[in-house]
Amino acid sequence: MDIRRWLSSGVDAVEDWQATFGPFQQDASLRISDEQFATAFAAFTGRLRENYPFFHPSYAGQMLKPPLPAAIVGYLTAMLINPNNHALDGGPATARMEKEAVTQLAQMFGLPAHLGHLTTSGTVANLEALYVARELHPGRGIAYSAEAHYTHSRMCGVLGVPGTAVPVDGAGRMDLGALDALLAGGRIGTVVATAGTTGLGTVDPVHEVLAIARAHGVRVHVDAAYGGFFTLLAGRGDLGIDARPWQAIAQCDSVVVDPHKHGLQPYGCGAVLFADPDVGRFYLHDSPYTYFTSDELHLGEISLECSRAGAAAAALWLTFQLLPPTPDGLGRVLAAGRRAALDWARLLSDSTVLELYQQPELDIVTYFPATPSLAAPALSAIDDASARMLAAGMAGAERPVYLSTLRVSAGAFARRHPDVTADQDGARILRSVLMKPESEAFVTELHTRLEQLAAG
Ligand SMILES: Cc1ncc(COP(=O)(O)O)c(C=O)c1O
Repeated sequence: MDIRRWLSSGVDAVEDWQATFGPFQQDASLRISDEQFATAFAAFTGRLRENYPFFHPSYAGQMLKPPLPAAIVGYLTAMLINPNNHALDGGPATARMEKEAVTQLAQMFGLPAHLGHLTTSGTVANLEALYVARELHPGRGIAYSAEAHYTHSRMCGVLGVPGTAVPVDGAGRMDLGALDALLAGGRIGTVVATAGTTGLGTVDPVHEVLAIARAHGVRVHVDAAYGGFFTLLAGRGDLGIDARPWQAIAQCDSVVVDPHKHGLQPYGCGAVLFADPDVGRFYLHDSPYTYFTSDELHLGEISLECSRAGAAAAALWLTFQLLPPTPDGLGRVLAAGRRAALDWARLLSDSTVLELYQQPELDIVTYFPATPSLAAPALSAIDDASARMLAAGMAGAERPVYLSTLRVSAGAFARRHPDVTADQDGARILRSVLMKPESEAFVTELHTRLEQLAAG
């Protein structure tokens, strides 16, 4: 699609609508001439060049990429109106779009019923899930794996709930024996399973976590902020995606997914969904200044945040009209990234200068420079070489590559690579999130470039 054409159509559409309300004079205090704007805008666009090229497959670092152009047009067009999805009074059209898009997310996870809404981030979405966990089981703690996102222990602190990290197995998944023993103690009310960890992209066995939790009368929240859309590939044997953890989400108590990660959205778009609509009672509050135009549910009535961008819902709704959260829609986008990760893992396994840290489960690939000169490679050498490759990759004037690092403990390293000498307590390794479908065609070039960097 031609983004220039549709951005301009968006301005036309909103101006046409505005014209139906009759003319008025814009206040002189807000007037800015094109000449004034040109100077500020040139400085602004110049500053934007400081960014890393998130759009390009040579950026194989963190979970970052530009949104779908359709999402940008949806966001900016709605932003000309600037609706607030707190209440139907502030954003009637976009609040309804939000409800529809959230229903599509609930259907994607197979939830039989749901109460849910968008949030500004995965952090806030998880905070809401943990808040409801606290209200349902006052005095009981929350458990999450040692590989869970740091937000869980942090938000337990914010909520005043004891948080417990459960050890992980050799692949970075929650250790089920340790979980069972912990839950037997009776002090945990909710366990958080992570469907796609931030560092390694591993999927906790949600189905087994659920069985253990239910046996102890414990709730299950699934943090699928990063991994959630991979449920669209559940059961795809060709892509090595086990269906069971994803199918089990439908029986869990809550789930978080971030459309601003794999849902092709601009930042400011997380989502939390609860299986039991009755948890809405924990959000009850008095707001004498809102909720006055309609008896329908206002999203602020079931959300901890007050003001939220209606534009975020507009962008998601418009995206789902084009690429719905179905295997044939958004699923095709995720499948390409997954294939890229599998292809690269094969190349890394055959390399003499790079080594795969562990087999990727989703689209995060972790690896490190192998140091063939050393008979017994040490963590310090791997740490130095990873940092050097990260810097050298970005510094290259020709064909730069952009990676990210992941700090792993000596113990975790030894479980996967027992031959490495633990001369320090951990090491940085390299980590690439292949979340752009374009990565698939670029993997060979990326690998060749990284082999050169590792050898150099
Ligand atoms: C599993 C997981 N949970 C939570 C978060 C936090 O989400 P956000 O950055 O949208 O606040 C992330 C971010 O990467 C994540 O990967």
